This record gives sequence, C-alpha cells and structure tokens, in this order.
Amino acid sequence: MVEKTLAIIKPDAIKKKTIGKIIKRIEDEEFIICEMKMLHLTKEEAQGFYIVHKAKPFYESLTDFMSSGKIIVMVLERENAIYHWRTVMGATDPALAEPGTIRHAYGFSIERNAVHGSDSPTTAIWEIDFFFKNEGNK
Ligand code: CDP
Ligand code: MG
Repeated sequence: MVEKTLAIIKPDAIKKKTIGKIIKRIEDEEFIICEMKMLHLTKEEAQGFYIVHKAKPFYESLTDFMSSGKIIVMVLERENAIYHWRTVMGATDPALAEPGTIRHAYGFSIERNAVHGSDSPTTAIWEIDFFFKNEGNK
C-alpha cells in the first residue's frame, strides 16, 4: 500500500553536515519527498510533538535537544513508507542499529540519533498534521 510517513532530520545530523547524505538515501530508497521544510522548534513545540513520551525519563532532555537547533521535516511517500523508513533509520540506539542504517552511520547516542520516523499509520497522520496541517496528508 502506498502511504505517507513523517521524517525528521534532527539537530545533531544538521550540525554534522549530513543533510545531503540523508536526503540522497531517502531518494535512493525510492521515496517521494512530498513536503519539506527547515525550522527551529521552541521547547514548547518539541514538548507538544513528543507528548506521548511525557512520562518518560528522557522527555526533558529529548525536548531540550530537539529545540536546540534547526531540524528538517519531510513527508515521505512510497509503498509501506512507515515500515520502510523505520528499517532504513535503524534501531533507536545507534549502537544497536544495523550497519547500513542511517542511525548506525550518523547517530551519536540513543538521544542524538540523527532521524525520526512515524511508528504507525495513526501516528503518521497526527505527526504530518502537526507540521503541515491538513496539507501534508493530501
Ligand atoms: O525514535 P524512535 O521511534 O526509534 O524511538 P522512541 O522510543 O519513540 O523515542 C523517541 C526519541 O526519544 C528517540 O528517537 C530518541 O531521540 C529519544 N530517546 C532517548 O533520548 N532515550 C531513550 N532511552 C529512548 C529514546
Ligand atoms: Mg517513536
């Protein structure tokens, strides 16, 4: 099934100048980039985006990190986009991510792990709306 997912290039990957390499990988994986923008989240916006993790011990640090610099958010489309992008990203902890995955190549730590991807169809719709209102899911 052709579907959409939300991808983010996180502040660590932008600081390391890996935007180009990550976008090349996205295109090599046959995703269509439907929407893309660079922005700098406020702490409050980062807290809103990661609201599902509010009770987690890493929430405070994660939302500091995600509001520490610019990010790039994208809507990606292809067959099985959600699962495929998560496979290309690799495990949350770069130390456990398979060779060949983006987090293995560019992640620094379990927090500073270069990229984000939606984890389910419901989450994808919510996350795309968060950044692109109703436009992103069209
Ligand atoms: O991003 P992913 O879906 O793989 O992982 P998550 O469990 O949904 O966690 C969201 C984000 O929180 C991760 O991508 C990490 O940046 C961060 N995190 C963290 O800082 N420490 C953890 N123990 C787990 C996640
Ligand atoms: Mg997640």
